Amino acid sequence: MSQSNPTKIKFFSGQDIPVELHKVRVVQKLHLKPIDQRLEAINKGGYNTFLLNTNDVFLDMLTDSGTNAMSDNQVASMHQADDAYAGSQSFYRMEAALKEVFGKELILPVHQGRAAENIISQTFVRPGHKIPMNYHFTTTKAHMEINGGEIFEIYTDEALKISSNHPFKGNIDIQKLKDLIAKYGKENVPFIRLEASTNLIGGQPFSIENMRQVRKVADENGIMMVLDASLIGENAWFIKQREAEFANSSIKDILRTMCGLCEIVYFSSRKVSSTRGGGICTNSQVLFLKMRDLVPLFEGFLTYGGMSVREIEAMAVGLIETTDETVISQSPSFIEYAVNELSKLGIPVITPAGALGCHVDSMAFLPHIPQKEYPAGALAAALYLVSGARGMERGTISSVRLENGEDLLSDMELLRLAFPRRVFTLSQTMFLIDRLNWLYKNRELIGGLKFVDEPKVLRFFMGRLAPTSNWPEKLVAKFKQDFGDSL
Ligand code: F0G
Repeated sequence: MSQSNPTKIKFFSGQDIPVELHKVRVVQKLHLKPIDQRLEAINKGGYNTFLLNTNDVFLDMLTDSGTNAMSDNQVASMHQADDAYAGSQSFYRMEAALKEVFGKELILPVHQGRAAENIISQTFVRPGHKIPMNYHFTTTKAHMEINGGEIFEIYTDEALKISSNHPFKGNIDIQKLKDLIAKYGKENVPFIRLEASTNLIGGQPFSIENMRQVRKVADENGIMMVLDASLIGENAWFIKQREAEFANSSIKDILRTMCGLCEIVYFSSRKVSSTRGGGICTNSQVLFLKMRDLVPLFEGFLTYGGMSVREIEAMAVGLIETTDETVISQSPSFIEYAVNELSKLGIPVITPAGALGCHVDSMAFLPHIPQKEYPAGALAAALYLVSGARGMERGTISSVRLENGEDLLSDMELLRLAFPRRVFTLSQTMFLIDRLNWLYKNRELIGGLKFVDEPKVLRFFMGRLAPTSNWPEKLVAKFKQDFGDSL
């Protein structure tokens, strides 16, 4: 493994803590409200952290999506935005940045990642199609299924192990891929999808070696590869750290190698470049033309795709900055710190540390809560109560209800605590760890949740839940006993 992590500066004391390689220049005041007000807020929000008002939130660890800190150069670039419906210079600057970073010549801009998924799915997915992938993302799956496709997650045996030291849990199982194509026929497989830093299984990367093996199978069968590059910077970072062949490569070279193995690369720039927006990139004129007409129909003209020109400028700069190791290493280093500290305390978290956030295994944290009472959702609500930090449930609430009325139980019940790039400080991270530790010691007090209002599609966003007993009040009482009138 490479030791070239710029945030890992050697301490005389021997301490292993990441150092921020940026300074704070614009700040936002935060509020840590008293626990009674937090109880009121979570009740009002239907025990769903998506429905909290940020006025009631101390550390917003819901997501890194659209919440990474922008750099001074990104903000500055917004002032040179060229307001034009068509042919804006801002678009051409973004096009040049994408060409430089991903090595793709043809760009379709879209307003965010799922818009890219909509266009790709409408263009290539037909009823009966089977789409193999390392793992799904919620919106990806929804778009592919709406178009009649069926997704197949062909991850390796390591992928769902909570505790592991496998460097690439996001890899595709090559034998399963071959079997799937043999079973359903290559004509029914429109593409193979690879998701960089596999979001729903703990931000786990895949290796380039695995990509090359997938490429070989794809070529043998004439199937194209589609890369979800929303978290590609972090995946490239892990490749540099963990894949010997690339230990001395630049992040830019690794990104180019990854993108060069896929016909289509799409992304949410809310993640990859710390702004809003997204895009679909390819070097194939044929594929470009197949998708192109949907952009003006759903997004906007081809040189803005639903984004403001200011966002486009900041996206171009953010993309280039993603190749800077001091930028791309920051979030993974903080996540690694949190994961190591939580592990030392015996708190079950996904290892090895991945991208995007720290993922707490809620089934191990709360073994007394059955999956149908949503342990990850309950843990998210409980953590908010005792700390004001809001994470995101990534478990059965984020799954679906089957036609027989039962929940489709998810593979994992995770509480995701996102570390957006360069947003939180070390003391805030230590506070989070401390409150999680207290919660772990008092975990029997936490109970389950049940739906009281359940939307049919993507229910986790707007769904409202209620506790199955008065456990929140009991938790609050114990908190007050231990913390007095501290916030
Ligand atoms: N693909 C991946 C891997 C994602 O993580 C996301 C979004 C999308 C596609 C969709 O992009 O939000 O711009 O439409 N992930 C966010 C998250 C929502 O919180 O993890 P989008």
